[in-house]
Amino acid sequence: MPHAILILAAGLGKRMRSPLPKVLHEVSGEPMLSHILHCVKSATLSSSEKPDSPIGIIVGHGRELVEEKVRAHPELGKLNLSFLVQSEQKGTGHAVRSAMDTDWGRARAEENARILVLPGDLPLLPETLVSAMLAPLAKGSALRLLTCELPDPFGYGRVVRKGKFPARIVEEKDASPAQRKIREVAASIYTFDARFLAAALPKLSTKNAQGEYYLTDVVGLGAKAKKKMEILEWANPEDVRGVNDLWELAQAENLLNARIIRAWAREGVRFIAPETSLVERGVRIGAGVRIHRGVVLRGTTTIGDGSEIGSNAVLRNMTVGAKVSIRAGTYAEESEIQDEANVGPYAHLRPGSVVGRKAKIGNFVELKKARVGEGTSVAHLSYLGDAEVGDRVNIGCGFITCNFDGRVVDGSRKHKTVIEDDVFMGSDCQAIAPIRIGRGAYVASGSTLAEDVEADSLAIARARQVNKPGYARKLREKKD
Ligand code: UD1
Ligand code: CA
Repeated sequence: MPHAILILAAGLGKRMRSPLPKVLHEVSGEPMLSHILHCVKSATLSSSEKPDSPIGIIVGHGRELVEEKVRAHPELGKLNLSFLVQSEQKGTGHAVRSAMDTDWGRARAEENARILVLPGDLPLLPETLVSAMLAPLAKGSALRLLTCELPDPFGYGRVVRKGKFPARIVEEKDASPAQRKIREVAASIYTFDARFLAAALPKLSTKNAQGEYYLTDVVGLGAKAKKKMEILEWANPEDVRGVNDLWELAQAENLLNARIIRAWAREGVRFIAPETSLVERGVRIGAGVRIHRGVVLRGTTTIGDGSEIGSNAVLRNMTVGAKVSIRAGTYAEESEIQDEANVGPYAHLRPGSVVGRKAKIGNFVELKKARVGEGTSVAHLSYLGDAEVGDRVNIGCGFITCNFDGRVVDGSRKHKTVIEDDVFMGSDCQAIAPIRIGRGAYVASGSTLAEDVEADSLAIARARQVNKPGYARKLREKKD
């Protein structure tokens, strides 16, 4: 019996009060829908049965955007996805019926598949839950229903049982005061026998408080027809937390972040104040790394063993080597910092930069598409843009590459500065690009370099000093 997955992602999510389709709201740097797909991907890959399980995503509100987002994802876009359109949003039952009325749905019924239905707004689903729900149904069973006891079940569909068996699910808005006291809820996660599902859906009605077709009513229909129905009782309410508004989104994000940080801590990463840091799921952190208060690690950032990340540093898509020290307040993206380098406090690495081994980038230094060689020091208040700086170079305080002269030449607005190995650049110099400073050259402080400097030369490009004795006093007396 083959399986398939169907994800509900067509709703507007009115309670989010946002024009963005609900499932595209991000948690830990990725849309809620992506979290579910990651989870489905790992659950289905570990089941040997079928690594390329058909996944139907029911889309409606903002469907082009949802489809585009998922297809563009480098990993998730490769899954066996079908986007099934629910053109009007008339409830979860209507959504699934729209899906079953497509070729995709008919193919599932024909092959007598079991279909796992997941809502698109449960970003905390664990892989173990999906695997458990994907297990084959018992012979003759119409469905498996996932339930969970919640301390506060408000807003969820309550499971009304008859003895051990589910009789029906009652939505909050339709529930009697006695039913509202039931703490066992349906998480909107089901495994259906496709044929039973296809036959039950046309029988749904909109006679309820919200005037919608409820998927939950399929359970009542099954009970009435005396079908065998299984229940999977899930112990951890956190896992099935739905996100219906921005407050629930924020809470889901906190929980996911705490899980990610806990997992890294158990791998040997020291978080000084874990509740203040944020680590996205794609981040990789080596053993023995120390992470101070308020650090934000985003995207595909990787950090090598034994590095230290100072307070309030923000790193996005960064490659950081081993034993690197990044000090407080540094902002760095899409760049590389090699082993044993020191960066910050308050450094700014813009995309395309490389800080070489044992190099030092100090406070208020900005790099953009700049490569800084091994052991080179750029210690204070400098801007290096479109620059190539060799090994063992000393860049004094306040150096600036003048990489933009206001003109576009050969399609490029920016010009390159090359500073070869062992150059000594005095403080407060500027290099007007394009320019090359030869190996071992020495540039006097306060120079504005507009021409190349040959290797091992001394360059002085500043006005000579003139001292006029007594002149200052004269000026003062004049004013009085
Ligand atoms: C739903 C369940 C409720 C359950 C809760 C768990 C129903 C009627 N209620 O309520 O029993 O306890 O989830 O989180 O099923 N959607 C569509 N098309 C539609 C309507 C919704 O695709 O026409 C999608 C939404 O995008 C969302 C999912 O279905 O991803 C669930 O819809 P939502 O409105 O959030 O249902 P809940 O009120 O949370
Ligand atoms: Ca919901």
